[in-house]
Amino acid sequence: MQEKLLNLQEAALNEIKDAQSIEQLESLRVKYLGKKGEITSILKEMGKLSAEERPVIGKVANEVREALESSINSKKEELKALEQQKQLASEVIDVTMPGKVFTVGKKHPITQIIDEVTEIFMGLGFSVAEGPEVETIENNFDALNAPKDHPSRDMSDTFYVNSELLLRTQTSPVQVRTMKNEELPIKVISPGRCFRYDSPDATHSPMFHQIEGLVVGKDVTMAQLKGTLDNFVQKLFGDATKTKFRPHNFPFTEPSAEVDVTCFKCGGDGCPMCKQEGWIEILGSGMVHPNVLRNCGIDPEIYSGFAFGMGVERLAMLKYEIDDIRLLFENDMRFLNQF
Ligand code: DAH
Repeated sequence: MQEKLLNLQEAALNEIKDAQSIEQLESLRVKYLGKKGEITSILKEMGKLSAEERPVIGKVANEVREALESSINSKKEELKALEQQKQLASEVIDVTMPGKVFTVGKKHPITQIIDEVTEIFMGLGFSVAEGPEVETIENNFDALNAPKDHPSRDMSDTFYVNSELLLRTQTSPVQVRTMKNEELPIKVISPGRCFRYDSPDATHSPMFHQIEGLVVGKDVTMAQLKGTLDNFVQKLFGDATKTKFRPHNFPFTEPSAEVDVTCFKCGGDGCPMCKQEGWIEILGSGMVHPNVLRNCGIDPEIYSGFAFGMGVERLAMLKYEIDDIRLLFENDMRFLNQF
């Protein structure tokens, strides 16, 4: 039996020496030292031995067990170190390799203008209102005093979705939503996308942006409209900028005016930018029509309001001297990166 144990030890030590992985080593441990392992099964036969032989064999068995255990442990350390080395070698970082270039995006010029205008009006105490791009015909036209036969409803420049909905042709319907839903006094601007059935050319795009403004309360006057817009254009185009109110017609304002500013390129002397006129048209405005107030449940005998609306693309094209509106929507980074 002693010989059996010593043969076993020799075989086991050889196998342990040749083990290639920690898993393999573990299965050797089970094979030799486990509960159902080979040493255990030899020891089970100890009952057959004589009383003199038993302690001798017991001692040998313990020595074999200890020898195997320590051999397994040191092999385990060896394999662990080897695996770590392998991992380090495979994860080597080449610090001389060029890094990845991350191109950081930037705000589109349209967004830049909207942000700039919004910030100016927030400084004047306005808050921002939003409305949906798919709007009711009621909010886009009827409530804004443009009844069924009104030219601004012309099929040719409006995208109708069905008999009640359309893609809004202007941000003015946000006026209606705000007046119907918010408490007075109201002082909001509303930037957003608008749509008209226009063929794209250098100055037209079927999708464009507007910024609407609305102030409603007691004793709101045209003088306040002029003061507000003067303040706005001076902040946007420079302190020396002057405004000119030209009479106009919009269905939802009375009186209505188009507003020109002194050309920010030549200061009003006349240059190619302003087509030698010294003035540049930038927005439409007026006093909210009593019919519109009434349509929104506001008594025009007690309250009054002013409104204005401007085209964002137009402002961007003026400010950045862009001569074709389509460039703004082609999203060519070579173009956009200039702003
Ligand atoms: N909605 C007008 C348009 O698209 C612009 C406009 C003019 C808005 C006068 C207004 C306003 O609020 O008072 O042409």
